[in-house]
Amino acid sequence: MDFTPTEEQLLVQRTARDAAERLLLPKAAARDVSGEFPVAELKELAALGLLGVAVPEELGGSGMGTIAYSLAMMELGRGDASVSVAVSVTNMVAELIAANATPELAKQWVPRIVSGELIAGAFGLSEPETGSDAAAMRTTAVKSGSTWRISGSKQWITSGDHAGAIIVWAVTEPGAGHKGITAFVVPGNAKGLTVARLEEKMGLHGSSTAQLVLEEVEVGEDQILAQPGGGFALAMMALDGGRIGIASQAIGIARGALEAAVRYAGERQTFGQAIIKHQAIGNMLADAATWLDAATLMTLRAAATKDAKQPFSQHAAMAKLFATERAWQICDIALQVHGGYGYVRDFPVERMLRDVRAARIYEGTSEIQRLVIARNLLRAQ
Ligand code: CAA
Repeated sequence: MDFTPTEEQLLVQRTARDAAERLLLPKAAARDVSGEFPVAELKELAALGLLGVAVPEELGGSGMGTIAYSLAMMELGRGDASVSVAVSVTNMVAELIAANATPELAKQWVPRIVSGELIAGAFGLSEPETGSDAAAMRTTAVKSGSTWRISGSKQWITSGDHAGAIIVWAVTEPGAGHKGITAFVVPGNAKGLTVARLEEKMGLHGSSTAQLVLEEVEVGEDQILAQPGGGFALAMMALDGGRIGIASQAIGIARGALEAAVRYAGERQTFGQAIIKHQAIGNMLADAATWLDAATLMTLRAAATKDAKQPFSQHAAMAKLFATERAWQICDIALQVHGGYGYVRDFPVERMLRDVRAARIYEGTSEIQRLVIARNLLRAQ
């Protein structure tokens, strides 16, 4: 499979790199301390087409596909991981609505999400009691005339307190398991929707993570994505694509950490020479660079498979598993190479290590990726 980027895809990559270097990198350390949510930055990224990279142009997106999206996410992850989380979830939400809503519903939401008018999109699947076992959710939606009333709690909702559009999954047919789940588009300012809690995280401080409570939130029946009962498969499909985004983000963070480590190891002297010339250090960096390359190729392959409209769930799960696990190791190596300086805030690698840790958890833990991969192996027999 050839997934050499085209000129157009490379242009998206350059746009994202320039934006990351101009808007994100210079403020990443300060944002880690302040925890400021990047409203202005998201609007600027939206103006550059980076909130809807794979969204069709007729809905306001860039129509550039998943390879371009992956390349962009790598650059933004390198710039500031915490901003790139909001970008990845917003792209996933916009793409999901664009691909599955009625034309009217898509027109109602997608252009406003990708233009930054609504700041961000959010993905309301997980709940306080149900994360990995998404089908066991407890939020319910009950029909009354032509409206649905949604009640329940959603947990770990990226940008949940800022997003203008939230996809909320709810049980519409109790007892029907995953076949009784429906997805709704809920406005961020809906009556009855409140932010119950904002999490204090180990890293990704510029990304907000909210617990949302819905008390009889009313939405019209025209706000359903796909058919009632068809919501679970939609979540799975969206997450397949989302996992390419998170693999890309992790690669970007790890690339930043490796660059910092190589720079430091080329300058820092011990025993009369730059530490990169000591085999113990050189070997660590060589392994890190090799893993990063493999992760990048796996992720671009998953992106190319998605763009070719072939089944890509397995490639996406493998790419997410490998890229996020190795990215964590690469950031740890980068910290180790810095010695004591790696452990303090004067250098960026301790932040990168904290930030990248979440990628092994969100949009499906590494354990869930292995479960998906193993099930696919069985199916392919
Ligand atoms: N694409 C399309 N349909 C799929 C699918 C896929 N990739 N995977 C499963 N399905 C369909 C199945 O075909 C099945 O439908 P039918 O019965 O009609 O055939 C249905 O979905 C149920 O499938 P399973 O029996 O495999 O479902 P399960 O309950 O065993 O769960 C799971 C599967 C893979 C474990 C799933 O629950 C899962 O992915 N869990 C992790 C959830 C997750 O990633 N959460 C992340 C939260 S979002 C987030 O983090 C965003 C953020 O803000 C950063």
